[in-house]
Amino acid sequence: MNRNCKLCWGVSALLLAVLLYGGYVVGIRGNVEAGDDGRTAVVMDSADRIRVLGEMRAFLEAVQGINAAIADGNMKEVETIARASGMVKARGESAAFLATLPLEFKKLGMATHQRFDDLADLAATNPAPQKMLAAVSDTMLNCVACHQAYQLKARTQ
Ligand code: HEC
Repeated sequence: MNRNCKLCWGVSALLLAVLLYGGYVVGIRGNVEAGDDGRTAVVMDSADRIRVLGEMRAFLEAVQGINAAIADGNMKEVETIARASGMVKARGESAAFLATLPLEFKKLGMATHQRFDDLADLAATNPAPQKMLAAVSDTMLNCVACHQAYQLKARTQ
């Protein structure tokens, strides 16, 4: 093997390493840094952070509405509210935004939207209120898990 080809291999290996690292950052790690309270900070544009926090408040409102509807024995209302926070809400996120999120964050976020669809499906079977409440509580384990692990930080330009 002559010197030039060693150089070729070296350059190729370097390019491959860069590509693999890029894939890892975009697909798995996301844009993160150590947070100031022991959690992982997910760093994103300020506008994205504001939008995500808005979606979070919608989640909270949905959980409140669902609990109130269960207390009223109105499973139709539970179904409507839960469905509105289901996978329909997860569609239309840009690839650039999704790339900033760690894989685990994306998985938890998607799973939570899916859980709301599951809540809607359960409500449609007109279950006992206790059963409905237990499913809501189960869904909220996702909220708790994600909040324990992550905070959001606006990118400073
Ligand atoms: C995939 C992760 C994830 C999931 C799942 C999740 N959250 Fe959040 N939520 C966050 C992060 C990160 C923040 C910002 C926390 C911070 O920066 O300190 C947040 C913030 C919030 C806030 C504060 C909003 C504001 O205006 O400051 C509320 C309320 C909230 N979440 C409710 C919920 C509820 C209710 C659920 C479950 C139905 C939920 N979240 C599920 C990650 C998540």
